[in-house]
Amino acid sequence: MTTLSQDATRPAEAAEQTTPEPVLAVRDVHIHDRAGDREIVHGVSFDLTPGKVVGIVGESGSGKTLTCRAALGILPEHFEISAGSVTVDGTDIATLTPRQWTRLRGSTVSAVFQDPASYLNPSLRVGAQIAEVLRVKTGLKRREARRRALELLEAVRLHDPELVYGQYTFELSGGMLQRVLIAAAIAAGPRVLIADEATTALDVTVQAEILDLLADLRESTGLALVVVSHDLAVVAQLCDEVLVMRQGEVVEQGPTRAVLDAPRHAYTRLLVDEHESYGLDRFLAAKTSEDPEATKALKALKALKAVKEEAA
Ligand SMILES: Nc1ncnc2c1ncn2[C@@H]1O[C@H](COP(=O)(O)OP(=O)(O)OP(=O)(O)O)[C@@H](O)[C@H]1O
Ligand SMILES: [Mg+2]
Repeated sequence: MTTLSQDATRPAEAAEQTTPEPVLAVRDVHIHDRAGDREIVHGVSFDLTPGKVVGIVGESGSGKTLTCRAALGILPEHFEISAGSVTVDGTDIATLTPRQWTRLRGSTVSAVFQDPASYLNPSLRVGAQIAEVLRVKTGLKRREARRRALELLEAVRLHDPELVYGQYTFELSGGMLQRVLIAAAIAAGPRVLIADEATTALDVTVQAEILDLLADLRESTGLALVVVSHDLAVVAQLCDEVLVMRQGEVVEQGPTRAVLDAPRHAYTRLLVDEHESYGLDRFLAAKTSEDPEATKALKALKALKAVKEEAA
């Protein structure tokens, strides 16, 4: 039921919705490799407002991961942001001390990568590792941290959170590990989650489930996402905006539907052509309609991919 006071708050909310502040703003970022004395990434820009999903696609070595690492403030040793800026919640990260940035990371911008096992300690129970993140990042006491970790395991749709809590990495499948890692990544309530090829190593069904989970988190918590993938279908399913990278350049950028429906750059056209047989059209159509349709299209995509993989 709508009350008068709720009505009274509406105009302010509406105003907020029309001009949301970006949680993460990447502005014309150039990345330089001091060791090889060359520029690797030649200017990437995007804004992430709450609930927005930006996709980065492109061939291997095009600079997708370095761009993500720049946004996370964890570039490899001899790399630096040589021009442009990364702003998190209005603060230019270049102005932060490593200590300040570490505090911000996890609680504002978090990430999951391709190989979940390597980010977890094989000799500790996975639940305890999530609880530890909670204790360090949010200051929860032991018992509370355990309770919250169980909630997170449930939120990432692991069927028996109590059981999984007490298990070790070797006891879990790749899909389960990726869910555990997502649980750890969202433990401190970040506003941005960067998923760099987070589903690439998983089989298509599990991949679809994880993407579905990310879409759900976005819906339910307003989490903004950066999704890096080789797979245009992944991007079509999830992203509002897409950047197509090639050799450190953004060759095309725009609303996902516009870019994939009418690619302007030859390289994007090539990517789209490669995906014709994956049912990208139906996927795109489904994204704009009701949920059941999207689900059907997703099933069709999975089936098509499975057939293609079997043939290969
Ligand atoms: N730690 C590193 N040391 C040296 N060169 C690196 C390092 N990381 C990346 N590079 C180089 O920077 C370029 C961009 O790499 P990046 O990892 O960002 O590509 P990518 O688009 O993520 O590729 P992929 O799709 O294979 O993950 C590549 O030429 C790569 O060789
Ligand atoms: Mg990469």
